[in-house]
Amino acid sequence: MTETAKRSATISVDGKTVELPIYDGTVGPSVIDVRKLYAETGHFTYDPGFTSTASCDSIITYIDGDKGELLYRGYPIDQLADDSHYLEVCYLLLYGELPSAAQLEDFEFRVTTHTMLHEQMTNFYRGFRRDAHPMAIMCGVVGALSAFYHDSTDITDLEQREIASVRMVAKMPTIAAWAYKYSIGQPFVYPRNDLDYAANFMHMCFSTPCEEYHVDPIMARAMDRIMTLHADHEQNASTSTVRLAGSSNANPFACIAAGVACLWGPAHGGANEACLAMLKEIGTVDRIPEFIERAKDKDDPFRLMGFGHRVYKNYDPRAKVMQETAKEVLELVGVTDSPILQVAQELERISLEDQYFIDRKLYPNVDFYSGIVLSAMGFPTSMFTAIFAMSRTVGWIAQWKEMVEDPQQRIGRPRQLYSGAGARNYVDLSKR
Ligand code: SDX
Repeated sequence: MTETAKRSATISVDGKTVELPIYDGTVGPSVIDVRKLYAETGHFTYDPGFTSTASCDSIITYIDGDKGELLYRGYPIDQLADDSHYLEVCYLLLYGELPSAAQLEDFEFRVTTHTMLHEQMTNFYRGFRRDAHPMAIMCGVVGALSAFYHDSTDITDLEQREIASVRMVAKMPTIAAWAYKYSIGQPFVYPRNDLDYAANFMHMCFSTPCEEYHVDPIMARAMDRIMTLHADHEQNASTSTVRLAGSSNANPFACIAAGVACLWGPAHGGANEACLAMLKEIGTVDRIPEFIERAKDKDDPFRLMGFGHRVYKNYDPRAKVMQETAKEVLELVGVTDSPILQVAQELERISLEDQYFIDRKLYPNVDFYSGIVLSAMGFPTSMFTAIFAMSRTVGWIAQWKEMVEDPQQRIGRPRQLYSGAGARNYVDLSKR
């Protein structure tokens, strides 16, 4: 895409004028190529938080924040959530096209036969306290994969990249489920090859040696849909972390571990856990105004978790599907008058009528309803972000592969505006 500059931008600074090429994407904002700006003007661009910066030329996922649109390789997320399933979406994200029946069967076989962990990896779990947060465990165990799978860490080898990609997609449910089992003091439950991806994850979480957990097909379908909704999301903070880590040629397992760590933050993937805690703290509909006022108060660090988004300035399309799934799962488990769901729906209604939220285009995002669904499925809040990380691994891997295979790729090394002390001489302690 970036060889076809049809027009340029002109910047004049300190008497110098620079022509910067402009490149157009298939859809969405065009970009101004500033790569030669420093060499020709001695100036950097300045964009903390990267609100106006494109870090790469990608063909994987597109978000139109104004329309509230999300496309995986061009396919709208609501169609994929309704008509596809997670492993088919994984294939689409990794290889760019929807698979044929034979391609899908082969991919599902490759994933299914890589779901086990090296048995020695169970020792890593036992090094954690029982009350360790599952995300702490996942950060450690995912990084440790590079200590076991040396035959898929050479990023220059296409075949090794392929094996590492399949291993990551296949093993994350086992790693996440075992983090949960360890935290509740139950024995690990091994994956089964006769169950599909989502059902296998729920089996590993909820079966015990004493009793098999029979996965309700509606519950498994809801779990699969949640995974699809979280699979990828353009250059978000954790994906950018994976890309930056990968730009140093670090092995894929270490890069995904970095993505897990970044996703954990409550401003990012940790918002689903924080949102349910917030809904529980609000407790009843009559307390909503108090929390809305706190969210607006600049002196109060409180924010409405599950609200707002850097890109979506309209409704997050994933939140809509998640809200429908919440109602479906609550009905299945026989909870029709969930106080938490009532608080969530009333909080959404009030905030969407409040000028503060309207002016800032703050809408519910993917994390607003996901905690309600996962809680109704029986997961503790501490597992919500681990499920997000498990689901997002395929997106991280697809973006990592694209970065590694991009001929324009160089090690990521941003510069800075330096406002610190100028050069000065050391002062001996006796003179201070
Ligand atoms: C995810 O990037 C992705 O794609 C992420 C993600 C993915 O799939 O990878 O979509 C997943 O991380 C979703 C977001 C989950 N986080 C939360 O729900 C946490 C609550 N949201 C906020 O922290 C915030 O909205 C962010 C972090 C999501 C976005 O932050 P921005 O883009 O930096 O926006 P901002 O903080 O500059 O806010 C702009 C204004 C500010 O007010 P003013 O200073 O202009 O007066 O909106 C206000 C903010 O105070 N604001 C909020 C708010 N979010 C923004 N006010 C109250 N409650 C909120 N939630």
